[in-house]
Amino acid sequence: MNTAIVKGSSDYRDCGLVFPPGFTFGSATASYQVEGAFDEDGRGPSIWDTFSKTPGKVWNGDNGDVACDHYHRLESDLDLMNDLGLAAYRFSIAWPRIQPTGTGRLNQPGIDFYSRLVDGLLERGIKPVATLYHWDLPQPLEDAGGWPARATADAFADYAAIMGTALGDRVHTWTTLNEPWCSAYLGYGQGGHAPGRHEPAAALAAVHHLNLAHGRALEALRATSTGSPEYSVTLNFHVLRGVGDGADEAMRRIDALANRAFTGPMLKGAYPADLLEDTASVTDWSFVHEGDLATIHQPIDVLGVNYYSTATVRLWDGETPMQHNDGHKAAGGGTAWPGSDRIVEFVQQPGPYTAMGWNIAPEGLEELLLGLSAQFPQQSFMITENGAAFDDTVAADGTVPDPTRVDYLRRHLTAAHRALEQGVDLRGYFVWSLLDNFEWGYGYAKRFGIVRVDFDTLERTVKGSGLWFRELASTGVLPSSGNA
Ligand code: FCB
Repeated sequence: MNTAIVKGSSDYRDCGLVFPPGFTFGSATASYQVEGAFDEDGRGPSIWDTFSKTPGKVWNGDNGDVACDHYHRLESDLDLMNDLGLAAYRFSIAWPRIQPTGTGRLNQPGIDFYSRLVDGLLERGIKPVATLYHWDLPQPLEDAGGWPARATADAFADYAAIMGTALGDRVHTWTTLNEPWCSAYLGYGQGGHAPGRHEPAAALAAVHHLNLAHGRALEALRATSTGSPEYSVTLNFHVLRGVGDGADEAMRRIDALANRAFTGPMLKGAYPADLLEDTASVTDWSFVHEGDLATIHQPIDVLGVNYYSTATVRLWDGETPMQHNDGHKAAGGGTAWPGSDRIVEFVQQPGPYTAMGWNIAPEGLEELLLGLSAQFPQQSFMITENGAAFDDTVAADGTVPDPTRVDYLRRHLTAAHRALEQGVDLRGYFVWSLLDNFEWGYGYAKRFGIVRVDFDTLERTVKGSGLWFRELASTGVLPSSGNA
């Protein structure tokens, strides 16, 4: 392929850039979003089963009962990954398949499914990157208090030990949590995600117990894995812009809640003092016990970075209607920003936008990686999610050309490459997502896949972006948008 070289373009539309040997190109999914088989082989209910079946919570009343039917189509989906030239596959394990009630009894058929998945990946030369928790908490644990309850972190450590024992001889990378920001603040504060609670203090308790769960799971995985896996966690960083008087203060507050509430304890061993002050009227943080921070603060091999767009904040004037453009579907009254919800507003950002209404800003990814690398100079990074939803159409010949998604990916991969060239220890890039799937509160209405799924027939069709990504993954050279 004679890809011309374009470098340093002002709009991040480079091509011909060569990624270093060993740079991992993969794609990602999550259990509830793709598996289906919601009540098979002993799987118990999760909070997303309950939430999606509660009227009004998910668009169109959609749920994950069938999803992409990946549970039954494992072999052909593995072949698809192979055809796409993926070097790694990031998937998550459904805790309620492993422990249907969240504690105690182990469900062997659940283990067997993931064991087959891992073996199938290894047979095809694809590295298994396994996330323990991508939001499907066993419902009985929520009934006992959920993440605001400390016992959930204890249960998570037991679950992690089960998985370390079962798969720790073969998994390439263990990821404890996916985006604990969403689990805590959208689940317990804003309410747009399961379990849909609107309790600001509980959201902050959930932050801490998720952090604790991360630390406890690292201990359990390290104690039980007999191979030589790498250890990681995936965070969704908020890349902030500020406008108006007090822009810095608005950004500081949101950065504390969104980013430093996790990187503080995990990578520095302390909660930021300003976070504790900003939230003092909501909670006294007495759920942080002696020794917790030492448990949470453990070395990780790779920090997983999820990035889609930026957010723009401003100190609210207290008079004009408050704007809530933080990228999340309104959920009736709750807040994802405890302690700052009457102080900071999220304003509309300049386009272009994806079908999620998220602004396209590849420069934000470069800035994020450079900023993290400056803050944590010894740390390696992996982009564990990046991608875009668009309203794809199937052409008359049955193909799915999706040039806007190709353009999005190309621009963000340009940003990733620029970060690499500036010295960031970036090890890989996972496109979200392998398949169109159940996009949480939006159901099946938002398509992120590089492979189309027809939700009537469940048939898979590789999109133009899938062909484009295959070229990238197999050559390590960034194609232009025109080659797919
Ligand atoms: C992330 C989630 C992932 C997917 C993308 C679009 O926040 O981790 O499951 O929904 O957003």
